[in-house]
Amino acid sequence: MLIFLDTANIDHIRQAARLGIISGITTNPTLMSKEATTDYQSAIKEICSIVPGPVSAEVVAEGTEEIIEQAQHISAWAPNVVIKVPATISGLEATSALAKDNIKVNFTLCFSVNQALLGALAGAAYVSIFVGRLDDAGHNGMEVVKDVVQVFRQYPLPTQVIAASIRHPEHCVAAAKAGAHIATVPFAVLMQMIRHPLTDVGVSRFLADWQSIAHVRDQSKSAPRS
Ligand code: E4P
Repeated sequence: MLIFLDTANIDHIRQAARLGIISGITTNPTLMSKEATTDYQSAIKEICSIVPGPVSAEVVAEGTEEIIEQAQHISAWAPNVVIKVPATISGLEATSALAKDNIKVNFTLCFSVNQALLGALAGAAYVSIFVGRLDDAGHNGMEVVKDVVQVFRQYPLPTQVIAASIRHPEHCVAAAKAGAHIATVPFAVLMQMIRHPLTDVGVSRFLADWQSIAHVRDQSKSAPRS
C-alpha cells in the first residue's frame, strides 16, 4: 500500500518528502483554507514541484460544465496534478468527460460501493473512500474499503482505491489489510505511524550501555601494542 499525505501545509509536505516514503498528496478546500492560501494556483504548483507523484486538487463547483471547466484549468498547472471531483451526478458526468480527455480524476467523497463503482466505470483514476467520516456516522468505513477493493479485483477495474479521512494509525493497518492501493494520511498520523515508545526506550538503553564501556574502549586505544 502506498502512502499519500493529506495536507496543504508546505512545511509538513517538505518534512514528509524528506522521509522518502510519500508517493503523493491529497488536498481539499478545507485543507487549503487552513493554510490561509489566497493563491490556489501557486500553492498547488509548489506542492507539485516538491512531490513528483500525483497531487490531488479539488474543484469547487457543482454543475457539470463548471466542474469540467475548472478541472481543465487546474490540470494545466502541473503534469502531476489530479483533479478531485465529488461523487455527485454532475461529478460523475464530468468525470466521464474528463477521463475521455485523459485528465486524471480522483472521485472523492465516496461513502458507498456504488459510488466507487460508478466512479470507476466513468474512468476515474482513483476513488477516495472517507473512512473516518463513515465511522463518525456510525458505519464501518473500512468495510466499505474492503468491499470496493473486492469488487474492483473481481472484474477487474484499473481504478485505485484510496482510504481517505484517516484518523489514526490503526486505520492505516486496516486499510493495508483491506487491500487499499493507497492510504492518504494527515501529517500527525504519519508521525504516529513511525513512533513507538519501546523504540525510544531501546535507543536510549543502547546508547547508555555503549557509553558505559567508553572507558574500556579508551583504555584499549591507548594501550601499547606488543
Ligand atoms: C481525502 O482526500 C480528504 O482530503 C480527507 O481525507 C478528508 O478527511 P477528513 O474527514 O479528515 O476531512
